Amino acid sequence: MMYVFFNWKMYLDVDQSMMLLHDILPIMQSMSSVQFGIFPSLLALSEVQKACIDTSIIVGAQSIYPVPQGAYTGAVSAYMVRQLGCTHALVGHSEQRYIFGDKNKDVRKKIDACIDVSLTPVVCVGEKKDDDVEKRDYRIRKQLMAAFDNNNSSHAVIAYEPVGAIGSGHSMDAREAHERIMYIKQEMTSYTKESFPVLYGGSVDASNVVSYLTQPAIEGVLIGSASTTKASCLALLDAIALI
Ligand code: PGA
Repeated sequence: MMYVFFNWKMYLDVDQSMMLLHDILPIMQSMSSVQFGIFPSLLALSEVQKACIDTSIIVGAQSIYPVPQGAYTGAVSAYMVRQLGCTHALVGHSEQRYIFGDKNKDVRKKIDACIDVSLTPVVCVGEKKDDDVEKRDYRIRKQLMAAFDNNNSSHAVIAYEPVGAIGSGHSMDAREAHERIMYIKQEMTSYTKESFPVLYGGSVDASNVVSYLTQPAIEGVLIGSASTTKASCLALLDAIALI
């Protein structure tokens, strides 16, 4: 199964989310060999989720807070997202790590909270732009260890997103992304016997999506800005349909 996940970040308000969904839903539903997922803003999550009931489209949250309920002004919990009927949540996205300050231990709490309520975490890992090779491997190893060591989860998705490639237009060469994902898969054998799908993310668009999806180790893509307009989304879907 090939995974194509759309991370709409904070690009679309509720009306814009519903309009874009309306334009792409029938096409996504006709592409049965692709497992699509949409991660709208928390504000649009409920409406998008309702519109996708009875479809095979995954709908998930871009972030969750690890405590089920209580005095946490501004937060929405994994439990609440699951109550809505959503099945997935992004965890550890680099924008959550580096803008909102999530450390590896916070990411782990969020993963555990997802697992507690049967929400599949989409765990994002990746080196920072200025990391040298040694630092890069170390950072990814630490992120994976914090996320998966002693964790009995049987469901997870991993997204490899090198920070320098996110939103920059400088996507990583597909062959290199394949090599990095092979490294991640090798590391994951220390933590689980399950084989969690690993996706690539970072400036994926219609011009390069096929190069990623045809690499043997890359099981899908997590797409940000190119998934947020009708034109670029339709171009992406056209390109993917040709695989
Ligand atoms: P981008 O974002 O496609 O805009 O680079 C990807 C992501 O952050 O998930």
